[in-house]
Amino acid sequence: MKLGIIGCGAIGTDVALAADNMEEIEEIYLYDKNEDAEKHLVDKLRKGKIATVEELLKKVDVVFEAASQQAVKEYGEKVLSAGKDLVIMSMGALFDNELWNDLIETAKKKGCKIYLPSGAVCGVDGIAAAKTGGLDEVTLVTTKPPESLGRSDEKRMVVFEGSAREAVKLFPRNINVAACVSLAGIGFDRTKVEIVSDPVVTRISHKILAHGRFGRLRAEIENMPNPNNPKSSYMASLSAISILRRLVDPVQIG
Ligand SMILES: NC(=O)c1ccc[n+]([C@@H]2O[C@H](COP(=O)([O-])OP(=O)(O)OC[C@H]3O[C@@H](n4cnc5c(N)ncnc54)[C@H](O)[C@@H]3O)[C@@H](O)[C@H]2O)c1
Repeated sequence: MKLGIIGCGAIGTDVALAADNMEEIEEIYLYDKNEDAEKHLVDKLRKGKIATVEELLKKVDVVFEAASQQAVKEYGEKVLSAGKDLVIMSMGALFDNELWNDLIETAKKKGCKIYLPSGAVCGVDGIAAAKTGGLDEVTLVTTKPPESLGRSDEKRMVVFEGSAREAVKLFPRNINVAACVSLAGIGFDRTKVEIVSDPVVTRISHKILAHGRFGRLRAEIENMPNPNNPKSSYMASLSAISILRRLVDPVQIG
């Protein structure tokens, strides 16, 4: 399999290094709008090559977006129109219903797939499965140290309660997690989000609470930061690599 990566930052680097060690991956084509980021990464790889998006689309089977919401808008449609599968990390871009519907339509027309890794949350597999039987309620509770919310609370406080769509307007840093949980389950307007500022915690945690015909679900993760980008959770890179494994492995679990 030949892989294209758009975005050579923290997640793109983790995915590229993992792919470089996978025998099923023959070549890795890299594109970043920042040439230094491309060069810095290509030097670490055995199978890496720098290319423009147009060049890499002629070579690869699947494209990994690990850049920005803008990159999803700029390249998402191009990748799918070229008949290539697309993995989207910056899934906050998908709050734009028109963009999301267009991407789905193009993927259907071209017979290719869009993969949305679970990113910095866990429990998305359960939400996606439960949806078929009927989900009554899904709540995402994100707890952060006050300083990462730009606050100085001395006791635990709920600072936001509302829909996922409203949450990302006020707390854009939660956008990828809110998008993933919403798209897996009951959508941006019905998914509830609670944001908690807690001076006791040192790490960002996400909890998914859901109930429906299947029963009840409760899944919680406490995230360590990515060593290469403290603003990114390390789990986001690991979930991206696990999607890559899904693409090449004969066995699919979950
Ligand atoms: N799904 C999740 O849970 C989750 C978690 C963390 C990060 N993310 C998202 O994944 C993306 C990558 O995260 P990261 O931590 O690796 O970021 P990063 O800042 O370390 O790296 C991003 C790289 O992409 C490049 N880039 C940005 N816009 C581009 C464009 N339009 N065209 C080409 N290159 C472009 C930048 O130059 C940079 O090198 C971000 O959008 C981030 O919000 C998602």
